[in-house]
Amino acid sequence: MESILLLLLYSAFCTLLLVILLKKIRRDSLQKPNLPPGSMGLPYVGETLLLYSQNPVTFFATRQKRHGEIFKTHILGCPCVMLGSPEAIRYVLVTQAHLFKPTYPKSKEKLIGPSALFFHHGDYHAKMRKLFQPSFSQNVIRNLIPQIEAIATSALDSISGGKVVNTFYEMKKFTFEVAVLSIFGHLDTSYKEILKKNYNVLDKGYNSFSIRLPGFSYTKSVMARRRLGKILCEIIEERREKRVDEKDLLGRLMNFKDHENGQLLTDDQIADNVIGVLFAAQDTTASLLTWILKYIHDDSKLLQAVKEEQKTIFEANDEGERGLTRAQTRNMPLTDRVIMESLRMASVISFTFREAVDDVEYNGFLIPKGWKVLPLFRNLHHNPDFFTDPLVFDPSRFEVGQKPNTFMPFGNGVHACPGNEVAKLEILILIHHLVNKYRWEVVESRNGVQCNPYPIPWRGLPAKFWKAPYNN
Ligand code: HEM
Repeated sequence: MESILLLLLYSAFCTLLLVILLKKIRRDSLQKPNLPPGSMGLPYVGETLLLYSQNPVTFFATRQKRHGEIFKTHILGCPCVMLGSPEAIRYVLVTQAHLFKPTYPKSKEKLIGPSALFFHHGDYHAKMRKLFQPSFSQNVIRNLIPQIEAIATSALDSISGGKVVNTFYEMKKFTFEVAVLSIFGHLDTSYKEILKKNYNVLDKGYNSFSIRLPGFSYTKSVMARRRLGKILCEIIEERREKRVDEKDLLGRLMNFKDHENGQLLTDDQIADNVIGVLFAAQDTTASLLTWILKYIHDDSKLLQAVKEEQKTIFEANDEGERGLTRAQTRNMPLTDRVIMESLRMASVISFTFREAVDDVEYNGFLIPKGWKVLPLFRNLHHNPDFFTDPLVFDPSRFEVGQKPNTFMPFGNGVHACPGNEVAKLEILILIHHLVNKYRWEVVESRNGVQCNPYPIPWRGLPAKFWKAPYNN
């Protein structure tokens, strides 16, 4: 009898425990946000092979269609959350930016230099931003116009022999020169050449596998990076010796003093930031320029309209005898819309990377600490809810304003591109000279996209350029 009673008591206790446990599980599952929808793919490799077997644009777009504005995946060894809506992207880049830090592979950080501003978050980043911004302000860049015009004309002259050139590579030469100008102001040709030579080696290995064995591209890049560091230290030292106090970006980096602790930047920190700007400025702008040349080449009516807009300015300047003014570069409405539409269509920065610094809940979904978070700019720019017929190139859509936070080719928030005005200015100037004084023909125009890693037209847009007699 006693043992039956004990058994009954024991089973009542177990039932009670079970009920409490079930209630707790239910309460927890109600309270704890779930991970976003989506597949994490195969163990270890996740969905990496799928990503590489197709165009990244298609990879992200199909998943967004299936799962909505926020979804999870696992690529390149990392669990990731992808974001495709204006609200979610704004949340990560602007309103809750402190919860998401930029993240890059260590191998890339090594090539650029760990103190480059875009690797950082918080105090150091804020101080560097404050230092950078005046160097790219309207007041400063208006003084660069005559030199950018000279660089543009020289770049176009050099390719105008009628031979087929890789447009992207040629545009890279142009954007490199402009980046050097915006960092150093005037720089001796010998320094410029040696910087260019070594930066090109660094650039070649940037997207290769980070294998540190003799002869491999990555190893060559690391060595070129070392040489670049030395050259930059020499330039800095020479300025110090000559007591040159320039107001350009290099001068500002050299004069920076932290108000809180009185510390100056080390030469290595300065070099990392200089190389960071070269990196941020060159391929992005060259890729966009290449797309613009393709888009206007493929639409003869649009090209004619751009030519007419630019011809009026050219004539007002005595057929190019006088240089462009900032007021003129600010009054090229059609060319400006062509740039905006190209920024949308090409979305050269298709997405960016952040990492959650803590567990974050967004719209009922959990973004776990340490997960990568990718705002998908291209998906936003190609979303038919925000841009009707998104795959049609139509600059007139920019005659009216866009819905808030649906167009962010230069990013948003604390890391938004500080060089966007420089980029637009150099593009306007190059187009002005190109359509007034030169002609070009795309050879084997195809609609493919190559990722290099930025999207560029098929094979970098092979084209022929030649000088045109005025009014032709
Ligand atoms: C068409 C050309 C360009 C495009 C589309 C572009 C786009 C962007 C985007 C989207 C970001 C933000 C990345 C992120 O949030 O992770 C960025 C950052 C940056 N860009 Fe640009 N950029 C262009 C040209 C330039 C130029 C010409 C310069 C310099 C002269 C420049 C300097 C920078 C720097 C230094 C950053 C890092 C800012 C920070 O982390 O605080 N960019 N750019």
